[in-house]
Parts: sequence; C-alpha cells; structure tokens
Amino acid sequence: MHDFQFKNGELYCEDVKVTDVVQSVGTPLYLYSHHTLVDHFTKIKKAFAKINPLICFAMKANDNLAVLKTLADQGAGFDIVSLGELKKALMVNADPKKIVFASVGKTAEEISEAVKIGILFFNVESLPELDEINRVAKAMNKKPQVALRINPDVEAATHAKITTGTLKNKFGIDLTTAKDIMKNRARYPHLDFCGLHVHIGSQILTREPFVKALKKVLGFIETLKAAGIHLKYLDIGGGLAAVYKDEKPQTAQEFADAILPYLEKTGLKIIMEPGRFITANAGIFVTKVLYLKDNGIKKFLIVDGGMNDLIRPALYDAYHEIVPVKRPKTKTKTAKVDVVGPICESGDYFAKERELPQMNQGDLLAIMTAGAYGYVMASNYNVRGRPPEVIVKGNQFEVTKKRETFEDLVRGETIPAFLK
Ligand code: LLP
Repeated sequence: MHDFQFKNGELYCEDVKVTDVVQSVGTPLYLYSHHTLVDHFTKIKKAFAKINPLICFAMKANDNLAVLKTLADQGAGFDIVSLGELKKALMVNADPKKIVFASVGKTAEEISEAVKIGILFFNVESLPELDEINRVAKAMNKKPQVALRINPDVEAATHAKITTGTLKNKFGIDLTTAKDIMKNRARYPHLDFCGLHVHIGSQILTREPFVKALKKVLGFIETLKAAGIHLKYLDIGGGLAAVYKDEKPQTAQEFADAILPYLEKTGLKIIMEPGRFITANAGIFVTKVLYLKDNGIKKFLIVDGGMNDLIRPALYDAYHEIVPVKRPKTKTKTAKVDVVGPICESGDYFAKERELPQMNQGDLLAIMTAGAYGYVMASNYNVRGRPPEVIVKGNQFEVTKKRETFEDLVRGETIPAFLK
C-alpha cells in the first residue's frame, strides 16, 4: 500500500493534490510521501520485532535528506557505500554506531573517515581491502570492527544487473577464502572481526534464495563457533521486493516468518539493509505531455522527463505503472502508446505499447514506484538539470531539493587557458 491515491478523479499524495505541487514547482519532479516511508519502515520493524534488528536503510536507493531524516527519526541506521553517503547520513544526525559500510572499492580516504567517525562496522569485500583497512587503522592506532561479506554463490532469480550473490559477481568473499581469513585473523591485529554480511541481490520476490544463502552462512557460523570464534553480528543485507506491476512479492511478515527461526538460532544481533522495500512505492515521478506523435505505425507520447531523470526502464527494461494525474471525466478511448522522453536515444522511454487513455498536450502523467533508484540514478545527460524532489506530509509539501539550474550544471567547468 502507498499514499498515492485518486480522490474524485485526481491523484493525491496523502492530502496534497499532485496538480497543486506541479503548479508551484513545475515539471518534471519527484514526489515522496512521508507517511508511506514510515509505514514501510514500520512493517519491517514489526515483522522482525521478536529479534529487534538494527534496520540500516540502504541509502543508495534514495539519499534525499528529507527521506533520510524521516527514517532516522524512526530509529533507522544506514547502509552506506561511499564517503558522500556517510556525510549525508551525518547531516541528518545519524548515529555512527548505526552505520555499516559496504562497497567493493573503498578508498583509503573513505576508510579513514569512517574509522574517525566510528561507524558500527565495515562490510569487507576482498582480501586486499582487509589489508588496507588494517593498514589505515594501524596508522590511526584504532581497531575498527569488520564483517566479512560472504558471497554464498546463490542465484537470486532477479534481473542479471542486480543479482550479486554468485561467484560470477564482483561482490563479497567466497566461503573458502573467508574460512582462511578467519583462521588467520591474527594477521590483522588492527581489525576486530565482529560479524558476517550477506546480500544476494535486489527485487527478490521469494524467500527461497534468502533461505538458501542464510543456510550457507549459518553453516559457516557454526564452523567458527566450533573453532571458538564467536561473532556479534549477522548482516542479512537487503533485497526485499516492491510491487511495480502485478508481482506478488513476499510481505515483510512472510519474509520474517521464513527466516526468523534461522536468525534466532544464531544468537547474533541482526542487521538488515532494506532499500527498495521502504522507498520504491513512497515516490512517484511526475512528467508533462509535450507532444503527441503518430507516424502511422506507432503512437508516441513525448513527455518532458527523460531517461536522465529516471533510467530504470532504459537500463533494466523495468516496468513502471503510468497513470494520468487527472482521470478523464468521461469514458474515453484508450490507445497503445510509447511514452518517451526528449533525450536523443531510442532507449529513452518510460513505457512501450502501453494502453493509456487519450492524452493531450499539457496533461500530466505520474510514473509510479519511482522512489527507489530513481532520483539517485539521475544524470545531467544532454545538459539537462535534474528535477526537484518534493516531500509531502499530511497536507503540507516542501521542495527538499531544488531543480538544478544551468549555473549548477556548469559550476566548476572552465575552458583551459591553452584553448583560449
Ligand atoms: N545492501 C547492499 C550491500 C546492496 O548492494 C543493496 C543494493 C542493498 C542493501 C539494498 O537492496 P534493496 O533492498 O534496495 O533491494 N539500481 C537497481 C538496484 C541496485 C541495487 C544495488 N544494491 C535498480 O534500480 O533496480
């Protein structure tokens, strides 16, 4: 469920009419619902209440400050992958002891900043990274906590570009190497080996891949226990799916029911890293119809948003529901159209052969389920400013990130002296 609903034929976000936001802010724009964010976070929290996990929102899904603040206020920690994300988390007063840091390519600078700030732990993705964290920690005379990210070699049955848990992927450490590392952990005197991490991919609809991966990790935990190595944390990553079309993903409760017995058995503090589940349905992208085009073979709705604003359809062939912001008053004819943007690429589309009611120039369309991996993946391709982000709470709305201006786009860019 989410808070984007029709009342009298008009799309609302909570108690705010989407057209009112457009009137004040223009198009295209991203719009988020505060209530949906809280609701989705609460769903996970409640489902897992028995073990009181630390829920570290994967802020790569949506790093808008209003979104982060909303979740931090609910007690969320953050799963980060860069120094930039760390700094944004700190801007909303996130507790460093609720921050975990994954990424296959952490730089020395990122490592030392995270150690300085005192994050909960690093999710370590390779042997040389372990050496590097140990080296940086030694120079700082510190002993940060690290969790090995295990690559369990499990197929997650999702889009090839977002599966991460097989040995064909760059992520994590294979079990054999991980066993070796733990056996020889004395080689890293500046690291506190506190846990294990596993994240097998994103938009995973069923429980089976999670259970399969967990079982492998639990086996490893048992081996470690038998060797007298006791950990504190098990970070089970993210991956819970959102509804884009007619998928029937497991609910948070079903997910909890399936894995709680395994988690409880470990006796470890559980960390979770949901991203999409919390924000996907809490956001929409609103765009305006610029032109209608019919070339005899195909009909096109040309809109003012493009793949630079929301790249998921172009990149993953992802399906996003598209609805007119105002429903036609009388029953109108529908037609199959391609909804396309102004970018100079054929991949610049939001939908192909989509059945939509007759639209006119100036009409507004809402592209649904755009709150995860939407704005964060936007670019300035074709020298287009990124759209504004607006958040609604009840009957209030506010721009939380301004539309980029041309000045924003050319900031820091100069013509070299030797070309003048
Ligand atoms: N933890 C780690 C280590 C991750 O790499 C990710 C996502 C998450 C947690 C959160 O996963 P989620 O709960 O959101 O599934 N851009 C793609 C998705 C990339 C996911 C990257 N990693 C998309 O638009 O579908």
